[in-house]
Amino acid sequence: MTSTSLPNYDANAQGSKTWHERACGIIPGGVSSPVRAFTSVGGVPRYFVRGTGAIVEDVDGREYVDLIGSWGPMIAGHAHPEVVAAACNAMAHSSSFGAPTTQEVLLAEEILQRVPILQRIRFLSSGTEAVMTALRLARAATNRDLIVKFAGCYHGHADALLVQAGSGVATLGLPNSPGVTEGQSRDTIVLPFNDPSALIALFDKCGDAIAAVITEGAAANMGVVPPALGFNELIGDLCRKHGALFILDEVLTGFRVHQAGWWGLNLANNSISPDLFTYGKVIGGGFPLAAVAGSAAIMDLLAPIGPVYQAGTLSGNPVASAAGLATLRLCTPDLYAHLNQSALILGNGVSDALRHAGVPHTLQRAGNLFSIFFHPQSVQNFEQAKRQDVRAFSYFFHAMLSRGVSLPPSAFEAWFVSGAHREREIEWVLSAAQESATEVTNKLADSD
Ligand SMILES: Cc1ncc(COP(=O)(O)O)c(C=O)c1O
Repeated sequence: MTSTSLPNYDANAQGSKTWHERACGIIPGGVSSPVRAFTSVGGVPRYFVRGTGAIVEDVDGREYVDLIGSWGPMIAGHAHPEVVAAACNAMAHSSSFGAPTTQEVLLAEEILQRVPILQRIRFLSSGTEAVMTALRLARAATNRDLIVKFAGCYHGHADALLVQAGSGVATLGLPNSPGVTEGQSRDTIVLPFNDPSALIALFDKCGDAIAAVITEGAAANMGVVPPALGFNELIGDLCRKHGALFILDEVLTGFRVHQAGWWGLNLANNSISPDLFTYGKVIGGGFPLAAVAGSAAIMDLLAPIGPVYQAGTLSGNPVASAAGLATLRLCTPDLYAHLNQSALILGNGVSDALRHAGVPHTLQRAGNLFSIFFHPQSVQNFEQAKRQDVRAFSYFFHAMLSRGVSLPPSAFEAWFVSGAHREREIEWVLSAAQESATEVTNKLADSD
């Protein structure tokens, strides 16, 4: 398919519809993770059967340029031959032993060499588990209970963190989650993102009860909202002064924005020294793998050396570790230069198309992560993120989908490029964006 002959897909994805009906009868909402369900944009989620590079194909045989990238992990593109070979090779020797493996040691060495302030790392199967473990460690290390998080930041679905948790819950319009006990909510304090005075006031009031402050490297789960200059540094300074731990959640930013993650991207300008880091997504190369990492003093509190229990049947799985290592080895400075350039062209091009069509919006970036808010003013926090016109987004989303571009099905998500997004795919997206922007304007006019 070339960009000059964009297909005009109709909304009737019969194969996906049939599968979704089957799924909905037996899987809640038909999905294994809520944001996949198209709840906020309407319509039928596409059932993908194949991915090659930047292109995914659905069960009806339709092709799309993929800007979801499995929500981050597919940084090298789908089915990259080196990742496939590494995973197949590992799997041919057994997919799990329940014993230490060479692959996890190699992956640990690769990550520690990229982020030299790390001394220890422990692997788990999901970002949620990594964050849960980081919180448990912080509480054990400080002998305190309170955790501070920022509204709109998502750190997985651990009970204590499902309070104003960004994209998934925002997409569904849920403030918090039932099933989270009052006690767990009480130990979580939620502050506005990018608000230094709220943070200072909180530490003044109860700094000696705070176990940890957790933040995303750059917030990318309420749309992309970079930390204001000095905000992450302030978190680090206050934590140090009051004996709390600073947890930098790099599950999404880690090794996506830079070879040393968000921490590395910002090293030259303003250095921060978080006590604990969490990783996921890219480090598993599309397999379930995540990590918590930090200094030996804190990490060695983990069992079996220390008293803090954490375990997992499939933790550090050899197939996932091999795929993750192969992916990280593809994450060279050249790859990051390519991602930066692609994200720049794509973001600017889509924004130009919307501007020409008169669709109010704001393009925001954090490294090679970007998203478009369908609101004319820039966004610094979750309250502002929620002002956007989600109806305009859903028109745009479907207009793009019908032209063969798969965007995240939520106005509150980052768009992900990969090393496989080349000129052809970028042109395809930009041609689709021009037509889609006009369609949005017409639909908004019709519906007013
Ligand atoms: C910053 C951040 N932390 C934690 C998580 C949870 O990771 P997982 O979905 O692997 O549990 C996510 C997932 O999107 C994330 O973006």
